[in-house]
Amino acid sequence: LVTLLLALLAGYLLGSIPFGLVLTRLAGYGDLRQIGSGNIGATNVLRTGNKPLALATLLLDAGKGAIAVVIARAIAPDDPTVAIAAAAGALAGHLYPVWLGFRGGKGVATTLGTMLAIEWRIGVAACVTWLITALLFRISSLAALVAMLALPAAAWWVGDKNLTLFAIAVAAVVWVKHAANLRRLANGTEPKIGRKRE
Ligand code: G3P
Repeated sequence: LVTLLLALLAGYLLGSIPFGLVLTRLAGYGDLRQIGSGNIGATNVLRTGNKPLALATLLLDAGKGAIAVVIARAIAPDDPTVAIAAAAGALAGHLYPVWLGFRGGKGVATTLGTMLAIEWRIGVAACVTWLITALLFRISSLAALVAMLALPAAAWWVGDKNLTLFAIAVAAVVWVKHAANLRRLANGTEPKIGRKRE
């Protein structure tokens, strides 16, 4: 139990680093939360027009999730629940960072990073689903919402019951975090990827 709690806490601390916010501030764009959707993720960094910065945010937000899992695996190689705890912690950290008054991001990149590290086939299935949806519709939130549906489906296909339950929980949380996006999608006002203004 101590290992589990430590994994959760370490994951949380890693996950709570708001790379999008830090990078845009360092690059002189001011507060990302005042731009576009106000979200701290890569999609919103792209609305500054700075593609490398958006890519860096995507890789770092995904990377922190993956690293949390890799560290958990190194500490407890025989206990898959420790890796899941680290993934849950990282996602919680990104969504509810103590440093930002618990108002964080939407968890798409971090979820993909943790899943790639936990079971790469599930991660790849979700990433490919994201890409295909994004190529078809050019809307980041829609791609994320569809990719989240692919997560539990892929986990079930892989045949891991615990991971399937975890994937369902993660998908549900990420969907809830996209409430504003869902409203914009419903009334047709959700912007396409890379558009600077909403
Ligand atoms: O990864 C977040 C994405 O799904 C939506 O971002 O900024 O359009 O709300 P945003």
